[in-house]
Amino acid sequence: MACFRFFSAVTTLVLLHLSSIAFASSHGSKQLGDQCSSDEECSVGLGCFKCGIDAARCVRSNITDQFSLVNNSMPFNKYAFLTTHNSYAIEGKPLHVATQEDSITEQLNSGVRALMLDTYDYEGDVWLCHSFNEQCFEFTKFNRAIDTLEEVFAFLTANPSEIVTIFLEDYVKSPNALTKVFTDSGLKKFWFPVEDMPKGGQDWPLVKDMVANNHRLVVFTSDKSKQETEGIAYQWNYVLENQCECDEIPKFRNVGRENNRIISFFSDGDDGVKPSECSNRGESAQLTDKTKALVLVNHFSTVPVKLLSCEENSQHLIDTIKTCYVTAGDRWANFVAVDFYKRSDGGGTFQAVDKLNGELLCGRDDVHDCHH
Ligand SMILES: *[C@@H]1O[C@H](CO)[C@@H](O)[C@H](O)[C@H]1NC(C)=O
Ligand SMILES: *[C@@H]1O[C@H](CO)[C@@H](O)[C@H](O)[C@H]1NC(C)=O
Repeated sequence: MACFRFFSAVTTLVLLHLSSIAFASSHGSKQLGDQCSSDEECSVGLGCFKCGIDAARCVRSNITDQFSLVNNSMPFNKYAFLTTHNSYAIEGKPLHVATQEDSITEQLNSGVRALMLDTYDYEGDVWLCHSFNEQCFEFTKFNRAIDTLEEVFAFLTANPSEIVTIFLEDYVKSPNALTKVFTDSGLKKFWFPVEDMPKGGQDWPLVKDMVANNHRLVVFTSDKSKQETEGIAYQWNYVLENQCECDEIPKFRNVGRENNRIISFFSDGDDGVKPSECSNRGESAQLTDKTKALVLVNHFSTVPVKLLSCEENSQHLIDTIKTCYVTAGDRWANFVAVDFYKRSDGGGTFQAVDKLNGELLCGRDDVHDCHH
């Protein structure tokens, strides 16, 4: 009897588990733009999100894989990648400023291919903190770097044709602490060697060769010394980056600068509104500098507001990448960095990346048009 009860409890648990899997992967029939109340009501590739005061609608929530849609035989710098700003600053920690709502694994599974991580020495380890004064505190810490890097390791292991790029805003001072955490996470196995990065703006290796060589993790640091000491590429030798002045909605007023980022606050006047501008941020060479082969466009507000990020991630984002194309001397961006990447009023960040891949790969407005 006890045995039967045990068996029936296990059966019930298995059935419950199976039904929850079925539920999680079920999709409804609602199309792009339809009103919805849950992700499950929307068809495949769409999620249910609210934008400002509008009703929640089905909007795109998954990337187009440009490697499988077109091919992976072009140089790495001929593709565009969705990038999350402060990827680790995920909702759920009281009093912490969050910029994302999905776990790192969910971000990667939905098509995010570049992560921006702020690394600090803290409690004898490397931590990811959304902090200031080059120091991590109890109230600014998010998690140990190893946790996030292990998620990246699991993704690269499960997806042998994908490439992930990590941008470190790097305040780690302990020698070899980063090397240790990348080694401990297993990620050294996928490490793209700094010696293979083009020094004068030439094309990067072909993606298919990066895949064949298992050089599928590209890491940049903002700390110049670490290229020499730990073989971690100094970002500004290889990447151009704009200064984001994307604070169009809501109306922000710029009140100062920190680390070359604009610090802004809500304003009730019109004085903070700027048309999209696109110039290099302080650390980056001029956007027209052809000796760097990769271009990154930042597009997020200094004060992240989830319900409003949909506006920034929609037409405003497309306008900014077009502006940056011109100010970068007719070069389309390879990375576009956003907050709350799934929030939009339709195609959002996914459509912006489809546009960039289309432009980069075949001179069309959408990567789907490159496919013959
Ligand atoms: C996103 O689309 C890809 C195919 O392009 C698919 O393999 C993946 O499971 C999708 N991810 C999600 C979270 O729906
Ligand atoms: C890969 O796609 C690009 C862009 O459409 C094209 O120019 C190139 O010829 C393709 N390469 C191969 C080997 O199919």
